Amino acid sequence: MAEKDYEIVPLPKEQWQGTNIPMRYTTEEYYDVKIAEESDGYTIKIHKSQFESPVTHYPEEYDFPDKLYQPHWEKAYAWGVLKDGDGKKELLACIETCPEEWSNRLMVTELWVHESIRRQGIAHRLMAVAKEQAYLEHRRAIILETQSCNVGAIRFYQKEGFELIGMDSCCYRNNDLERREVRINMGYFPRRKQKVTKETIAIRKEKETEYHRTEEAVLGAFWNKHHLGCNEHLLVHKLRQNSAYLPELSRVAVAGDQIVGVICFVRALLKKGEKTKEILTFGPLCVVPKWQGCGVGGLLLKEALTSAKEAGYGGVIIFGEPDYYPRHGFKTCDQFGITTEDGKNFDSFMGIELIEGALSGFGGKFIEPEVFLDLPKEENAAFTKQFHAPAKQRFPGQWDEIEC
Ligand SMILES: CC(C)(COP(=O)(O)OP(=O)(O)OC[C@H]1O[C@@H](n2cnc3c(N)ncnc32)[C@H](O)[C@@H]1OP(=O)(O)O)[C@@H](O)C(=O)NCCC(=O)NCCS
Repeated sequence: MAEKDYEIVPLPKEQWQGTNIPMRYTTEEYYDVKIAEESDGYTIKIHKSQFESPVTHYPEEYDFPDKLYQPHWEKAYAWGVLKDGDGKKELLACIETCPEEWSNRLMVTELWVHESIRRQGIAHRLMAVAKEQAYLEHRRAIILETQSCNVGAIRFYQKEGFELIGMDSCCYRNNDLERREVRINMGYFPRRKQKVTKETIAIRKEKETEYHRTEEAVLGAFWNKHHLGCNEHLLVHKLRQNSAYLPELSRVAVAGDQIVGVICFVRALLKKGEKTKEILTFGPLCVVPKWQGCGVGGLLLKEALTSAKEAGYGGVIIFGEPDYYPRHGFKTCDQFGITTEDGKNFDSFMGIELIEGALSGFGGKFIEPEVFLDLPKEENAAFTKQFHAPAKQRFPGQWDEIEC
């Protein structure tokens, strides 16, 4: 198979649950783990050593061989590389992840590449999918378990940016230390960054010469997040040609000469019977993945809301992430007596008053500008060709089967 044929595809649970993973490897080295109790604590030493002769580990020696979608990983999701076998697809490589919700970490529960195609960068590409999932789900770390004798895998994880985060000397049997197969835990931290300030990031109006770069940043922020691919970059493009768009209130966040965040303000309406009131909405507010979690979104929002207030607008209503916007003062619209155009309320339908009573004193229905709804798939596909878009990939957090 040529490299381009090693396409990474989702492995749906219905089809792949229970599939054996032939987790075989041979190693000449191991990490010798020594734990010593001392008067004032403990010392743990982990040093690479040589086996007398190469050792092979294979699935048949274990009571619980690796399988996809084991019942205890309730929210697992897997991707893999497949080959056409005797009338059915055969697994050539896979990665399985499962969120540990209470600690907000993403676990890599399986990673395997068939011996015939190792050292061709396939595990690296599979891990890139797990890293993308961690970004999309705002996980604070990716964690995994490996063994002290799996030196090749440990080297791979180190290359991928994983660090040692712990060990367990009796995970598999009580004599794991003597058997030289000790559980090693490794972790990867997607966003370990300093909070940004107005000194490190400039928040300003967008220049005409930057349109394409802004759209590229928007694509980077939304790609594969809610759908396969995204269409928010086309939305920004079309907004600029729409009379409801407010460039004087919209902002970009700039680091050096890079656009790292965007907020686009648009006029919207509240409607109550025959009466209407002009308010604002925005969409999208976004930050490119590498800069997420540093406070850029908050800076953009604060700056843009201040200018909106100075321009005399009383309130803003949006459809957005229910976990994010309340931190910046947004409340669900039922608290203002406002519903969607078809009379609904839900957690992601939120608003903020810039002038007290500007929303609650009017109530009524929120009328979203039509430009938000007019994003035909064919137009988006043609428009997206102007960008270096990453591969489309299915992720568990996506809303639906829709491909943009
Ligand atoms: C570990 C494993 C998943 C790596 O898969 P892979 O597709 O061969 O890895 P990649 O080609 O993406 O490796 C990228 C880099 O990681 C490092 N690396 C990967 N495997 C390595 C090994 N056995 N020894 C040393 N370094 C290794 C190398 O730096 C490599 O780059 P290079 O080949 O240009 O030097 C694969 O060996 C495997 O399936 N092993 C058996 C199952 C297993 O142990 N899984 C992990 C369970 S915890």
